[in-house]
Amino acid sequence: MASENEAFSARLRAATWDDHGDNETSAYMSALVGGRLARDEYAVLVAQLHPVYDLLEEAADRMAPDPVAGRFDLAGLRRREALEADLGYFYGPRWRARIEPNAATEEYCDRLREVCFDWPGGFVAHHYTRYMGDLSGGQYIGRQVRRTLELAGDDGVRFYRFPGKPKAYKDRYRELLDSAPWDAAEQARVIDEVKAAYRFNAAVTAELGDRLRPSAA
Ligand code: HEM
Repeated sequence: MASENEAFSARLRAATWDDHGDNETSAYMSALVGGRLARDEYAVLVAQLHPVYDLLEEAADRMAPDPVAGRFDLAGLRRREALEADLGYFYGPRWRARIEPNAATEEYCDRLREVCFDWPGGFVAHHYTRYMGDLSGGQYIGRQVRRTLELAGDDGVRFYRFPGKPKAYKDRYRELLDSAPWDAAEQARVIDEVKAAYRFNAAVTAELGDRLRPSAA
């Protein structure tokens, strides 16, 4: 059990690491990092991420004036443009008409609408779960996607490319978590919301996993 004196970033990570594991070990994510996904099977994940980042980044605009939450939207972190470039690569210029959120993505988006627009801690919880993930395991996932789909250059994997070093972003992000002026009750609420965010993400990939070709699953 993490001690109360430990930095919040460390306690948050420790308190939610089991929930992270459920994401890492799902059939879909295992197939993804195991190099067994076909191009269209990967593209549907990008299609699910688009509405999620669309909302997170709209919420970031709303939270910009907030003295705590506004600071987490670090320059270069936003992913929507990169996702749109990747969707254009996989689905062509008419990608918007060709993608659709699945039921789990809709539920995830409902939650983002509920908690990210007027609760700073809720925004940070969801922001942390996605962007710190993209800067961490996401970097490894991006390399596996590039190799599996035999992509050249950045096409199809712009989502994983940040303009700065992932470690520098992560160090700064943890400083922001550690300096957020939340009392113990608010920290507990944020931790609970990160656990929920992991569950929403796991549900999205569980649904994608149900539709894999038998040889990929
Ligand atoms: C196959 C899938 C995945 C693998 C192999 C993986 C792997 C990892 C690894 C190795 C780290 C630690 C990196 C470090 O300490 O620097 C990490 C951190 C993290 N991952 Fe994942 N991950 C996966 C999926 C996900 C998903 C789907 C999410 C969320 C939607 C996620 C969110 C996070 C977060 C938020 C952290 C940062 C934890 C912290 O240090 O506070 N990961 N991941």
